[in-house]
Amino acid sequence: MLLGAQWGDEGKGKATDLLGGSVDYVVRYQGGNNAGHTVVVGDQKYALHLLPSGILSPGCTPVIGNGVVVDPSVLFSELNGLNERGVDTSKLLISGNAHIITPYNVTVDKVTERFLGKRKIGTTGRGIGPTYADKINRVGIRVQDLYDESILTQKVEAALDVKNQILTKLYNRRAIAVDQVVEELLAYADKLAPYVADTVLVLNQALENDKVVLFEGGQGTLLDIDHGTYPFVTSSNPTAGGACTGAGVGPTKISRVIGILKAYTTRVGSGPFPTELFDEDGEALRRIGGERGVTTGRDRRCGWFDAVIARYATRVNGLTDFFLTKLDVLTGWEQIPVCVAYEIDGKRVEELPYSQSDFHHAKPVYEMLPGWSEDISKAKSFSDLPKNAQDYVKALEEMSGAPISAIGVGPGRDETIEINSFL
Ligand code: GDP
Ligand code: IMO
Ligand code: MG
Repeated sequence: MLLGAQWGDEGKGKATDLLGGSVDYVVRYQGGNNAGHTVVVGDQKYALHLLPSGILSPGCTPVIGNGVVVDPSVLFSELNGLNERGVDTSKLLISGNAHIITPYNVTVDKVTERFLGKRKIGTTGRGIGPTYADKINRVGIRVQDLYDESILTQKVEAALDVKNQILTKLYNRRAIAVDQVVEELLAYADKLAPYVADTVLVLNQALENDKVVLFEGGQGTLLDIDHGTYPFVTSSNPTAGGACTGAGVGPTKISRVIGILKAYTTRVGSGPFPTELFDEDGEALRRIGGERGVTTGRDRRCGWFDAVIARYATRVNGLTDFFLTKLDVLTGWEQIPVCVAYEIDGKRVEELPYSQSDFHHAKPVYEMLPGWSEDISKAKSFSDLPKNAQDYVKALEEMSGAPISAIGVGPGRDETIEINSFL
C-alpha cells in the first residue's frame, strides 16, 4: 500500500506509476476527483484525478474500490483524454458499491463553502464532502443504483427532499428537479456497465492467486477525517485502515505500507500548518517545487520539513518504509531548517498534540541541517548524493521512525534513487 504521509501532493502519483510496472492491480480506495496526481513518463505528463495512476502501466488492472466517490462526468472525460493519447483504459474495474457524486452534491459543496465565508475549509469544490455525508446518512446513490430506474428515482427523491429545502430556504437557490437528475445519471448507465464489477471478489481472488495488489491513497494522513487536522480535512480515510474498508480487503493481507513523504511540507486549503513560511524561502520552495495544485490551480502553502508529522504518519499508518520525494528542490540552501518538535504554550512537545487548540498554537522548534549546492537530479544511487544531502536524508529517517527506501530527485520515472530494494 502507498499513501500520503503529510497533507497530500507528496508525489503519490509518481510513486504509484513507478511501482505500476511490477504489480497486477492498482486500487484507489477512498476520495474522488479531489485528488490530483501528476505522472511524468518520458516527455509525456499526465494529470490524473479519479483514475488510479496504475492505469498508465499496460500490464496493470486499475480498480476503483467501493470506498471511492465517482463523478461519472469526470470519469469519462478522464478516460477520453487518456484514450486520445493512446492509453488503453479497457481493463478498468469500478465497484458497484462506490457512491456517485451527483450534480446536487457539487452544488451543495460550493454553496456550503460560500456560506462558511472566513471559516471555509477551502475544499476542491468537487462535491466530495456532501457525497460522503449522503453515504453516511444512508441517502447516497451507488453505481449499482443506475441499473434500477425505480430505485434510483426513489433514492434521488429521498436525497433531494431535505436538500431542496436547504437550498431554497437557507441558501436562496433554486430547487433541483428529481427527473432531471435521474435522467442525467441514467445516461451514464450503459457507458459505465462494462467497467462495473464485484471488485471485492476480484481483489481477494487475485490475492489468493499470489497476484500483487497496490493500494493507492488519495490526499494524505493529515487530511484524514479521523486522524487529520479536523475539521480542515477531507471526508474520507486516506490512512492505511481506509484501504481495508475502501477495498474490502482484510488487514492480514497487507504486507507493506509505504508513506510518501516530501522533503519539505505543503498544504492546499485552510487549516493549521506549523512550519508554514510566509517569506522568500516559502516563495522559493513554491517556485522551485512547482507547488501549484493539480486540481484547482491554487498555490500550495509551503514550509520546512516537519518530523513530528512524519512520526505521527508512521504511527497511525504502521508505515514499513518511506519514499522521500523532491529532495532536488532543496538544492541551493546553505542551511535547511527541520522541525524536530513543537513549542506549545512555552513547553516542548515531541508528538502531535491531540488537542486542536494546542496544534493551532504549535510553534516549530527547528534544527539546522547543512545544505548542498551540487545538482542532484542525475544521482542514481545514494552514494552519488553529496555528503550533506546524504546526511539530510539520514537525519529525516532517524526522526521519522521508518526507513527511507527510495528518494525522488526529479519528476520523471527514472529520477529516483532506490535504496533497500524499493521496487
Ligand atoms: P500527488 O498528489 O501525491 O500524486 O502529488 P502531485 O502530483 O499533486 O504533486 C507532486 C508534484 O511533484 C508533481 O508535479 C510531480 O511530477 C512532482 N514530483 C514528484 N516527485 C518529484 C521529485 O522527486 N522531484 C521533483 N522535482 N518533482 C517531483
Ligand atoms: P492529492 O491526492 C492536497 C484538501 C483541499 C481542502 C480539503 C478538503 O492530490 O494529494 P475536499 O474537496 O476533499 O473536501 O477538500 O482537502 N485536498 C487536498 N489537498 N492534495 C489532495 O489530493 C487533496 N484533496 C483534497 O484542498 O483543504
Ligand atoms: Mg496532488
